[in-house]
Amino acid sequence: MNLRIATSCSGIGAPEEALKQLGLDYEIVFAGDIDKYAKQSYFANHNITEDRWHNDIRTVDATAYKDKVDLFVSGICCQAFSVCSTKRLGVDDPTRGDLYKSFIRIVNECQPKVFVFENVVGMMTLKVKGEGITCWEKIRSSLQKETGYDLHWQVMNSRHYGVPQNRPRLICVGFKEKTDFLFPAPIELKTFLGDYLEKGVPHKNFLRRLTPDECIRLMGFRDFKKVVADTQVVKQAGNSIVVDVLKALYLQIDISKYGVKY
Ligand SMILES: C[S@@+](CC[C@H](N)C(=O)[O-])C[C@H]1O[C@@H](n2cnc3c(N)ncnc32)[C@H](O)[C@@H]1O
Repeated sequence: MNLRIATSCSGIGAPEEALKQLGLDYEIVFAGDIDKYAKQSYFANHNITEDRWHNDIRTVDATAYKDKVDLFVSGICCQAFSVCSTKRLGVDDPTRGDLYKSFIRIVNECQPKVFVFENVVGMMTLKVKGEGITCWEKIRSSLQKETGYDLHWQVMNSRHYGVPQNRPRLICVGFKEKTDFLFPAPIELKTFLGDYLEKGVPHKNFLRRLTPDECIRLMGFRDFKKVVADTQVVKQAGNSIVVDVLKALYLQIDISKYGVKY
């Protein structure tokens, strides 16, 4: 079975890396990111050609891929919803708050069998101005009404899926056909932060910053090729979905059964 995956706001491609680590047969139908350094890292680490790449999720037209995508994954830019952001305008953010509409449009255009929508949990508490509902309630309702997919959502924290990092994320899985999907049960954490740290990193006192390699490793990537400046690598790791969370999710979905036979 060959799984046809597409991503937008792709960053360094955690959804693709998870398929790779699971040893599944897959091909990238399209991917894209507005950040030129993300593109460099993506191209260095994944098998993709220029014609399958788009920069801005708002302008990509996925109609040409109708029924050619098995899995579509996107963690749309989260700054508008994050508790770390100073303005936190949510869906009212004029520059980034409405990227979810592009996500919905892409789903409707290419009709994937399964989609994964990922974001920060802040989206679940931040209220939409004047509407008395949270950003997630508004987005979920649009996803439901405008795509008609069977939706399942839950907070997944990487520390419950094998990586010693407290990183709760809202994960919503949509199925074109109705399912009785249940999220994967948490698994016992068997590693410690120390297992991910490099030995002999120079530092002046007890505390030190994580190195780029450590940041990447803590997001679950293996054999990641660094082709951009260290500051960019650290930023890219910070933006990524934890690969092990996606692996647990894919296994639970039994994602390979959605692939195609050639
Ligand atoms: C939270 S990160 C997602 C990272 C990705 N899931 C990964 O595995 O690395 C959001 C990404 O969206 C990108 N982005 C922001 N606005 C965008 C836009 N309008 N179109 C495409 N990408 C965008 C950012 O550059 C960033 O890489």
